[in-house]
Amino acid sequence: MKRIRRVFFVLLILAFIGIQYVEVERTNPPVTADVNAPTEVKNIFKSSCYDCHSNETVWPWYSKIAPISWLIVNDVMDGRKKLNFSEWEKFYSDKRTKLKKKIWDEINQDEMPKDIYTIMHTNAKLDIIQKNTIKKWVSE
Ligand code: HEC
Repeated sequence: MKRIRRVFFVLLILAFIGIQYVEVERTNPPVTADVNAPTEVKNIFKSSCYDCHSNETVWPWYSKIAPISWLIVNDVMDGRKKLNFSEWEKFYSDKRTKLKKKIWDEINQDEMPKDIYTIMHTNAKLDIIQKNTIKKWVSE
C-alpha cells in the first residue's frame, strides 16, 4: 500500500511539472481607445476591473503556475471579449449605453468584481460610495 501511495505521489508531482509546459498566452495588447471617464470613475475601474476588462492586466505571480494560470487567462480573455475599457472610445454610442447598463447591473448585484478575484484583491471590492460614483456615471 505504501509503495502504491509513493508511486501515486511521484506521478502527481510529474503531472504537475508536466502541465507547466502547456503554453498559455498572457498578452497585453496595445491600448488604443481607453475609456475617457472622470478620474474618480476611472480609478475605480482601474483598481477593480482593469485586470480582466482592459489590455493593462497586471499578471500576478500565481498566474504563471498551472492550473491556476489557465483559469486566470480564461477569465481575462473572456472578460476582455465582453467588455474592454481599452477599446471603449471605439464603440458606437449604442454599444456604450448597453454596456453601461450591464456594468451597473453587475455592480448593483455584486456580481462584479468576481468573488474569485476579490479573494486575492480584497481592496477591489466596491463600497457604497464607489458604487454610487459608478451609478452616476452610467446614468450620464
Ligand atoms: C477576475 C476577472 C474579472 C474582474 C476583476 C471583473 N470582471 Fe467583469 N467579467 C469577467 C468575465 C470572465 C466575464 C464574462 C463571463 C461572466 O459574465 O461571468 C465578465 C463579464 C462582465 C460584464 C458582462 C458583459 C456582458 O456583455 O454580459 C460586465 C458588465 C462586467 N463584467 C463588468 C465588470 C466590472 C464593472 C468590473 C469591476 C467592478 C468587473 N467586471 C471585474 C471577469 C472579470
